[in-house]
Amino acid sequence: KRKVILDVDTGSDDAIAIMCALLSQELEVAAVCTVWGNTEVEYTTDNTLRVLTQMGMDIPVYAGASTALVKYLSKERCVDGTCKAVIDGKEVRIHDEHLKLPEAKYQKKSLPAPFFYLDYLAEATEPVDIIAVGPLTNLGIALSLNPDIVSGIHQMVIMGGGSMAANVTAAAEANIWHDPEAAEIVLESGVNPVFVPLDATHEAVITKDEIAGLRENGNFCSRFAAELLEQRMAVHNAIQPLHLKDSATVHDALAVACVVDGSLLRDVREESVRVCFSGAGEGHLVMDRREKREKANCRFAYSADREGFVRYLNRTLGCPENKS
Ligand code: BDR
Ligand code: CA
Repeated sequence: KRKVILDVDTGSDDAIAIMCALLSQELEVAAVCTVWGNTEVEYTTDNTLRVLTQMGMDIPVYAGASTALVKYLSKERCVDGTCKAVIDGKEVRIHDEHLKLPEAKYQKKSLPAPFFYLDYLAEATEPVDIIAVGPLTNLGIALSLNPDIVSGIHQMVIMGGGSMAANVTAAAEANIWHDPEAAEIVLESGVNPVFVPLDATHEAVITKDEIAGLRENGNFCSRFAAELLEQRMAVHNAIQPLHLKDSATVHDALAVACVVDGSLLRDVREESVRVCFSGAGEGHLVMDRREKREKANCRFAYSADREGFVRYLNRTLGCPENKS
């Protein structure tokens, strides 16, 4: 099994991603780090603990950063309807009583997430993949305190950025826009991450009929995911471009899925990327397209296998009892 650490700002698609990671036969989740982003870190941590409680899996949870490294964002920073898409109690309501998550039975650890990374990665005896699906603040802090921890990371997969697509502003994707400086630290660190950007996640949408199919799978995880996805679809129908109509993005789950099956990402290219910090392009990933460009510092997925991803979701969320 592949050891993974999740870095999440749970978040409805984060919740689905956590369930996918826990239920994927191929993965072993060593820890979950939480970060601010979709909402405040107290909520993203509580939401995460509630997902784990529902799954009956007492995996260590380390709460992390509550703000970006540099920029200040007020608590009302909500970007659009999906921004505060927490699982319960805020904008996203679970309509079906049977699909409410239980109160958290487990406690977060006292060590803050960046320090967990410092300890864990310095002592790691086997390779670990980090799947980061929120702002990169925790990783930015850890990497700036000890750049050597890069050698403890087998692979870092980041849901973030976009080349031809944006969501939070005309130029930027939310996870990168929330903490551009942290993203730049990660890019400069030499970790050579795999980006699962909006170009890929907008391709790998789940349609209305497929969401209905997921609900029919019958068990809690697939019905819970279907409930969240229906609400994401409603938001998409209200605010997103036409091509996402009657479908939902599941951004963060694609980042988990591609660790299980790399072929779900398509058109993956080596790129040399920098982050724009200010102005209209704040949070935008700038690709060096010059002939004599800077050395590549990441791999960037321009597309994804939509049908393969939906099959993964069905198979993984639909069969919790198969996890050994
Ligand atoms: C990303 O931003 C968050 O709102 C989602 O959870 C996802 O990680 C998509 O831009
Ligand atoms: Ca997220």
